[in-house]
Amino acid sequence: MVATRSIGALESSMDGAEIAVRAAQPADVAGMAALVQENVRAGHLLPRSAAEIAASLGDWVVALVNDQVVGIGSLLLMNPDLVEVRSLAVATEFRSYGLGALIVNELVAQARARRIKTVFALTRAVNFFVRLGFTITDKERFPEKVWRDCVKCPLVTCCDETAVVFEP
Ligand SMILES: CC(C)(COP(=O)(O)OP(=O)(O)OC[C@H]1O[C@@H](n2cnc3c(N)ncnc32)[C@H](O)[C@@H]1OP(=O)(O)O)[C@@H](O)C(=O)NCCC(=O)NCCS
Repeated sequence: MVATRSIGALESSMDGAEIAVRAAQPADVAGMAALVQENVRAGHLLPRSAAEIAASLGDWVVALVNDQVVGIGSLLLMNPDLVEVRSLAVATEFRSYGLGALIVNELVAQARARRIKTVFALTRAVNFFVRLGFTITDKERFPEKVWRDCVKCPLVTCCDETAVVFEP
C-alpha cells in the first residue's frame, strides 16, 4: 500500500494538535452522526442514523483532533469474503491533511485482521482510493452491493460512482 503521512507528521502540520485514528467508542456517536448528516446534505453519503451507528459501532473508525470527531469510516460486510468501505468522510476544514488515508488504511487493516479477502468502495473520490493501492474495477463484480443498495438509488441507471477494490 502507498505510504501516507504519519500521525506525527500530521501533528506538526496541524500546529501541535492532538490527533488520533482509532476504533469508534460510544462517546463518539453524536459527533459521528453529525458528520454523516453534514455529508448526506452535501450529497456525498447515504444516511445512517445515530442508532444505526451505535448498533454497528465495532465496524467504525474515527479520526479525532483535540478529542473532536473530524473523520469517520466504516466497514459493511456483504459476505464473508467481501466488505465495503462505507460512510467515509472528513470534516471540510480538516481535509487534505491525510486523515482520510489514515482512516482507510485502518479499515483495510481491520479487514485483514478479520481475514476478509476483498475490500471495495463505490466512490467519486477515485484518485484518493487509487493513491492508497485500490484499483478501478467493474461494479457488476459486486452483485450484493447492487441488490442491497443500488436498486434503491434514484441514480441506478446513471450512476456516477466508480467501483474500486483492494485485495490484500
Ligand atoms: C474523500 C475524503 C474522505 C478524503 O479525506 P482527506 O482527509 O481529505 O484525505 P487525504 O488528505 O488523505 O487525501 C486527500 C487527497 O485525496 C484526493 N481526493 C480527495 N477527494 C477527492 C475526490 N472527490 N476526487 C478525487 N480525489 C480526491 C486528492 O488527491 C487529495 O489530495 P489534495 O488535497 O492534495 O488534492 C474527503 O475528501 C471527504 O470527506 N469527501 C466527502 C465525502 C466523500 O466523498 N467520501 C467518499 C465516499 S466513498
